[in-house]
Amino acid sequence: MVENLPVESFKPEPAREPSCASQGLAPSFSVKAPKAISLFTPDWDRYELVDSGGGRRLERMGEMIVDRPEPKAWWDRSAPDEVWNGADARFDVDSGWRSSSRAGRLAQGSQWELSYGPARFFARLSSNKHLGVFPEQAAMWGWIRDRVSQGGIAQPRVLNLFGYTGIASLVAAHAGAVVTHLDGSKPAVSQGRENIDELGQEHLSIRWIVDDVRAFVARELRRGNSYEGIILDPPSFGRGPRQEVWKSSEQLPALLKECAKLLSEKALFMVATVYSIEASATMVGNLVLDAVGDKGGSIEAGEIAMIPTYGSKPLSVSLVGRWSAVNGGAGSYDR
Ligand SMILES: C[S@@+](CC[C@H](N)C(=O)[O-])C[C@H]1O[C@@H](n2cnc3c(N)ncnc32)[C@H](O)[C@@H]1O
Repeated sequence: MVENLPVESFKPEPAREPSCASQGLAPSFSVKAPKAISLFTPDWDRYELVDSGGGRRLERMGEMIVDRPEPKAWWDRSAPDEVWNGADARFDVDSGWRSSSRAGRLAQGSQWELSYGPARFFARLSSNKHLGVFPEQAAMWGWIRDRVSQGGIAQPRVLNLFGYTGIASLVAAHAGAVVTHLDGSKPAVSQGRENIDELGQEHLSIRWIVDDVRAFVARELRRGNSYEGIILDPPSFGRGPRQEVWKSSEQLPALLKECAKLLSEKALFMVATVYSIEASATMVGNLVLDAVGDKGGSIEAGEIAMIPTYGSKPLSVSLVGRWSAVNGGAGSYDR
């Protein structure tokens, strides 16, 4: 990994006054703009972005080198062909997964174990280009772990929405949270449960739910339930278990506000990521501000990018907006 780039870099928070102040009128409120941040994936020794470019990304996950499509990598590759040709598994839209002779007969469904701190989970060659793990989310895991373990609340309740196979749920539960994990995909939730059952993590407190996010949140509000932390990692476009359509551009603003109502009086954090190409970090910061701007604490908004081993072109993977009751850094497990 490149050594000298910051895991997290801050720009000073711009102080803004309502314009009436300059006209001699007493401001009746003060506007606190979200702090601009850039999160680079933390030093996670089980993962490395080796290179990206030409519409693909080359990654090391544990012992395995994987070459797969990456629509956001518009630029040229930096690593030589020999490096790309050394991949153990390669995914093409037309032919699916193929493996190198070094890796033997890796087929769709092949899996191998990874870990992040105490969290243990499988990476798996799935029927699409995905691997059961979104490694870019590692930029968030340390922050979530620190909110949970340092928030001063024993067993805080954390809701992980659009949770997929649940690595963030594992990280939060290992840090001491009681987690409600929800995703619309039954296979994704089943894989999450396998990580628990097959990797000796039965002691963790995680409730697994297959449901539509918006239907579940509405039900939780009716039931009067609340949480100290909420994680939202929605796709730009997706579907719930009964084919309910999810569109971030149309539904995320309202969902964030509904989630803000689920935060308890002692809430610690809320974090949302956005993948839509037409969105911006400022926009995501504004959405979080709309949802939880009245709660004090601090809001940060920015971009998550991964630093490659070859060349100097980070791969930007998503935008992030997050609220914390207390200030604090990104956090990561040191090597
Ligand atoms: C970007 S992935 C989440 C990745 C995950 N947070 C992680 O870090 O591993 C988006 C997930 O949203 C789920 N999803 C999409 N629409 C949904 C809906 N309406 N209700 C529930 N889950 C939905 C998909 O099944 C998918 O697993």
